[in-house]
Amino acid sequence: MLAREQTTAIAIEPELRSSGSRSAGWHRPLACAERRPAARNGRSDQTFLHFGFQHQRPSRSVRPVAGQHRRVACATHSYFGVQVEGDVSLKKPSAADAAKMVARRMLHPRHTVEWLKHLRKKPHTAKAVDDAQLKLYSEILPGDFLNYGYFDDPDIAPEKISLHDIQQAQIRYGQLLVDQIKNKKGAVLDAGCGMGGLLNLLVQQGFSPVALTPNRAQIKYISTRHPTVPMIQGKFEDIPVEKFRRHFDTVITSESFQYVNLSAGLATMERILAPGGRWILCDYFRTTDRARKSGHLWTDFLQALEKNHWRVVSEKDITRNALPAVGFVYMCGRRIGVPVAAFALGKLRRKRPALHYLFEEVIEKSNAYLLDQLELVNPETFAREKKYALLVIERR
Ligand SMILES: C[S@@+](CC[C@H](N)C(=O)[O-])C[C@H]1O[C@@H](n2cnc3c(N)ncnc32)[C@H](O)[C@@H]1O
Repeated sequence: MLAREQTTAIAIEPELRSSGSRSAGWHRPLACAERRPAARNGRSDQTFLHFGFQHQRPSRSVRPVAGQHRRVACATHSYFGVQVEGDVSLKKPSAADAAKMVARRMLHPRHTVEWLKHLRKKPHTAKAVDDAQLKLYSEILPGDFLNYGYFDDPDIAPEKISLHDIQQAQIRYGQLLVDQIKNKKGAVLDAGCGMGGLLNLLVQQGFSPVALTPNRAQIKYISTRHPTVPMIQGKFEDIPVEKFRRHFDTVITSESFQYVNLSAGLATMERILAPGGRWILCDYFRTTDRARKSGHLWTDFLQALEKNHWRVVSEKDITRNALPAVGFVYMCGRRIGVPVAAFALGKLRRKRPALHYLFEEVIEKSNAYLLDQLELVNPETFAREKKYALLVIERR
């Protein structure tokens, strides 16, 4: 049986049928293409085309999947479902191929219509629903947390940190929050639950949490991992407040309140928190309005609390304890991300100078943007411009 990884269903283009004659009796074939890496046999990658024809007429050859232009030899079976195998080395697309592909997309009326539609269309999913950055973190980080964690040793050098250390720091961070819960029997809302790291701790320690996230991938993951944990799908600001009025004894926002609109978030919090209830917030804030994006401005936040009759019952500044993970991300970006990107670009410039030339400006702009984004996690900048606080907040 062939390895099924990298199986791609492809639409049958007319040319795929070209070498077999329609009159030979097969029509509307079903097909999928499968690419098998050459890893073990040392040969070139192989592409396998699996066909289903309505008739069993064998064809001598077919043109393979889009982007490859070599003919493949056919082996056919006499039943519905013909397998075509061929030793198709996947050619690197040349600059001319790339130009042709782009030109085809721009000039072919069908593609032009599609392209224009895409051009006019607004992204149909908001960032909160489909956040690529959070998805990336969830794929890199080993545990179910998506925060910077709490390092007992704030001076540990990034080079000495392992992914395991980060995971442990995140568990410590989660436990710090759990330890702030006053009413152990009451309903707990994990608002902005991410991949459920905190939910794991809450469930293990006998709490009855409710999860909330607007993120599609997280909803799917949590529903499978914690099928018995009730889930509110959507933004915190959009909670159906009538349904949850004065419902939660504890609301935890773990590195998630920075995403919530400040005034709408406070209004929701007021409505869903039970009398005497606690809001446990752990997040970073901007300490100056010149600071780079992400995080509410600390002074704005305090003012809004004051105005809306909230009081901070306890406050712990954990900026230094979060810095090791910030530094680790920065180190990975500088030592791996940037050099790998430069390496890929160098190769492109050397091997495909025409293609590189075509995209030079776009590449330069993207590079500058990436470097700028990386500065967000420069630990020196972070320490100067951000404050990471663990707060326990109650109504006055
Ligand atoms: C950095 S992650 C933190 C996840 C998790 N609390 C943790 O500590 O691992 C931020 C979380 O906030 C969620 N989020 C984003 N916008 C939100 C909003 N408006 N309301 C509630 N949660 C939101 C994200 O989907 C994600 O789950």
